[in-house]
Amino acid sequence: METTSIPKIHDAAKDFMPINGTDYIELYVGNSKQAAHFYKAAFGFQSYAYAGLQTGLKDRESYVVIQDKIRLVLTSPLKSGTEIGKHIDKHGDGVKVVALWVDDATYAYETAMKNGAKSYMEPVTEKDEHGKVVRAGIYTYGETVHIFVERKDYKGTFLPGFTKWETPDYNPAPTGLKYVDHMVGNVGWDRMNHWVEFYEKVMGFVNILSFDDNDISTEYTALMSKVMSNGNGRIKFPINEPAEGAKKSQVEEYLDFYEGEGVQHIAVATDDIIKTVRELKSRGIEFLNIPDTYYDAVTDRVGKIDEDIAPLKELGILVDRDDEGYLLQIFTRPIEPRPTMFFEIIQRKGAQSFGKGNFKALFEAIELEQQLRGTLH
Ligand code: FE2
Repeated sequence: METTSIPKIHDAAKDFMPINGTDYIELYVGNSKQAAHFYKAAFGFQSYAYAGLQTGLKDRESYVVIQDKIRLVLTSPLKSGTEIGKHIDKHGDGVKVVALWVDDATYAYETAMKNGAKSYMEPVTEKDEHGKVVRAGIYTYGETVHIFVERKDYKGTFLPGFTKWETPDYNPAPTGLKYVDHMVGNVGWDRMNHWVEFYEKVMGFVNILSFDDNDISTEYTALMSKVMSNGNGRIKFPINEPAEGAKKSQVEEYLDFYEGEGVQHIAVATDDIIKTVRELKSRGIEFLNIPDTYYDAVTDRVGKIDEDIAPLKELGILVDRDDEGYLLQIFTRPIEPRPTMFFEIIQRKGAQSFGKGNFKALFEAIELEQQLRGTLH
């Protein structure tokens, strides 16, 4: 399939599920307090909001950190036997909620339900002295959920029930991360088209790009991917499934270790990837190693770019071009003990695609890491 030009989706009248953007991403983690410190120290997020014992919660604690438009909620249970604890036991640390900012959460929920969604949470109105927020949720792949957040009548910090979290003595500088560019889901064998249909039918998304195993394969492993976008293009969810290869693919490895389907990576945008990556590295974030030979052919492949090749090579930043421009991207190693979720840092210079030209180099780099983990067989 032709993959270099992305269809424009501007027909607001046909968009039955208007979404303003990503509202927040909630991760269930073993130790929310330490995770919050990690996201602040290493990724440059800022302290933002807190809910837990001090706000009257008995069963869980959440720290919210923020960087520009990106809000991460880090939640841990305060006792055994909770849904959160079971989620962590099964999956390890991982994304539970991909929250979507809408103008009318009840409408979004009812529309999704009418179109065949499975309910996670009926519409709930939460209030405090700063106003009200309506939230409702549906399941997507695995145990992952989407929560619709309607916050037009709210002026407080994050959500009712949360208090401001201030850390006057410790606020590491931001690293230039701006917004969530896309979030990728890994689903099981032959399940990609099921979830493509789910996003089409339930959410009104459109399949804007497809990659088959001829696009994404190395000597050993393969995967397939379809990119789903909402009507205004602010939400992009590529969906991956494993494909037959001589050895175990990265998607299979993820499914084994996450013990199910889930979010594979969160791609966050920056305006200056060289500066951002240099900063992240100096704070201990580890990235996939790209062989030096990748840079021998890069200018021939992508043509002239604004950046010098030397710092890209030094940092392992990848480059790809499509009809509309080019993009720079790099991938972290998994950020938890299990080889599951990781981050992508991306800078778009016109290109609206996802770095197809980098897939081979990238997957060979991942296979090298799989080999070290003993999971490439
Ligand atoms: Fe990505």
